[in-house]
Amino acid sequence: MTDVISLSTRIAHLIDEASPDRAFILTDTNVAGIEAPLINALAGHKLVVGRPIIIPAGEENKNLEEVARAVAQLSDAGATRRSMLVCIGGGMVTDLGGFVAAIFKRGIRHINVSTTLLGAVDASVGGKTGVDFEGLKNEIGAFHMPLEVLADTLSFRSLPPIEILSGFGEVVKTAFIASEEMTLRVLGMSPAEADDDALAEICRFCRDEKLRVVEADPMEKGLRKVLNLGHTTGHALESLMLERDTPVPHGCAIAHGLLVSLILSNMMSELTQQWVSRYAAWLRANYKPLPFSCSNYERLWQIAIHDKKNSGEADSLNFVLLNAPGHPQIDRPVTRPRLEAALDIYQELQGR
Ligand SMILES: NC(=O)c1ccc[n+]([C@@H]2O[C@H](COP(=O)([O-])OP(=O)(O)OC[C@H]3O[C@@H](n4cnc5c(N)ncnc54)[C@H](O)[C@@H]3O)[C@@H](O)[C@H]2O)c1
Repeated sequence: MTDVISLSTRIAHLIDEASPDRAFILTDTNVAGIEAPLINALAGHKLVVGRPIIIPAGEENKNLEEVARAVAQLSDAGATRRSMLVCIGGGMVTDLGGFVAAIFKRGIRHINVSTTLLGAVDASVGGKTGVDFEGLKNEIGAFHMPLEVLADTLSFRSLPPIEILSGFGEVVKTAFIASEEMTLRVLGMSPAEADDDALAEICRFCRDEKLRVVEADPMEKGLRKVLNLGHTTGHALESLMLERDTPVPHGCAIAHGLLVSLILSNMMSELTQQWVSRYAAWLRANYKPLPFSCSNYERLWQIAIHDKKNSGEADSLNFVLLNAPGHPQIDRPVTRPRLEAALDIYQELQGR
């Protein structure tokens, strides 16, 4: 756990080490209030200039207009190639802020300070930055690695419970990629009851695990694809729920997509039925079921086939499967009949 004073001291130290000509803070309208003590403390640093760049909160503002506004504010405040950006917020802020850092004067340095669990365990780590465009998620972006990623785990106390659940979707995914030990540890937790220390521990674990993978394969040529475990169906479910006006946070959709991947891993790889049952029980205990049925399978398939992460043949989808926790396999083709069979089992395991 890190209090405001030690967090601001750590950020100040990182700014000093990077020795920019100026440093700027970028945050969103919600976080500007929640993190006022941190932002005020940083405002006293000799290199932090101007007022924070504050973008309106919400995924609908992760767009080029807000990028242009942020770039204009940097220019007006005299930012140069030697300046740096401190992005403080959830995944929306670190995705957009990281993209601003990637393109301003062809790239300036930045630090991410996460204030959501999803940001801390996933979005702020690994250098994928970008914005949505014409209804497509992360359609415009760049790889641009932050100098450092930090998390304000104490600020998670003000997150609504659904945001903690969303973060846990990526936590449990990371645990299955990493090891049996961590998977058992996470499946022994209840997201609603996780305390500050448990959250701080899983943030450290997930950040380190993601960094390990990303450092081995920064541009997602191979190994990095393991991080997409649960995402093929998870993204399709997220889009389907959005189309039906019953949106579900990203990480909650991933938690459900993960069950489909585990079922497929049991059907097509060596994952035991016991892991599928264990995870299905944890999912049922902690997450609301998603409202869809076999009448939506056709649409789910169409969405998944058009996902930019799927570069497989049109008659199959690329999945990450598991032989066991800690033993993922990338680029496993899954045909439509197989996926539909797995979705049928998913429905049964959800008690339908
Ligand atoms: N770059 C990557 O590798 C990567 C990975 C996963 C997700 N993402 C992106 O991350 C984004 C989702 O991130 P998110 O879930 O953090 O969303 P978010 O940043 O939109 O935050 C969710 C909401 O919580 C508010 N908030 C932030 N911190 C808070 C706090 N401490 N207390 C109370 N409210 C707070 C925000 O203002 C916002 O309204 C999506 O845009 C997604 O595409 C990126």
